[in-house]
Amino acid sequence: MVKSLGADYVIDYTKEDFTKSGLTYDIIFDTVGKSSFSRCKKALKTRGIYLTTTPSLSIQLQMLWTSKIGSKKAKIPFTGLRPSSEKVKDLLFLKELIEAGKIKSVIDKRYEMEQIAEAHRYVETGHKKGNVAITLHPL
Ligand SMILES: NC(=O)c1ccc[n+]([C@@H]2O[C@H](COP(=O)([O-])OP(=O)(O)OC[C@H]3O[C@@H](n4cnc5c(N)ncnc54)[C@H](OP(=O)(O)O)[C@@H]3O)[C@@H](O)[C@H]2O)c1
Repeated sequence: MVKSLGADYVIDYTKEDFTKSGLTYDIIFDTVGKSSFSRCKKALKTRGIYLTTTPSLSIQLQMLWTSKIGSKKAKIPFTGLRPSSEKVKDLLFLKELIEAGKIKSVIDKRYEMEQIAEAHRYVETGHKKGNVAITLHPL
């Protein structure tokens, strides 16, 4: 599935630890919050950046620390906290990419509002593919 979305190379985390392969990267973006800066640091190139979506206390301290010291940086992309004017620009850009077929969204399952508890239970398994949508019907 990941290859069908455009990835050139895929690593199965259940079979291989990407931090131990000897390869190094400019950016490591953990979109599911399962790694840490300390674990990934050795897999970053000099001036490489580690990004995560999970704002733990350790990453906040590492973000502060690496903003002053060291060549490898830790960052949390707090995109949702920016001013609305900037978010609107990004949404319009994303809309263009989606319309041009350059971004494909993956909806694993759809639920009705009445099934919201079931939807949560499924998401909490930690193995949804892409995302889960709740369908709202206009009154
Ligand atoms: N800061 C923000 O704006 C923001 C936004 C959204 C989410 N988040 C945070 O991001 C985290 C992830 O949330 P989510 O709901 O998007 O995802 P999720 O449901 O926790 O992640 C599911 C996906 O993660 C994969 N996965 C599980 N363990 C993995 C590992 N060790 N290495 C690589 N992939 C792994 C699963 O693959 P398999 O099924 O193959 O195991 C599945 O595809 C949450 O902690 C959430 O709070 C933050």
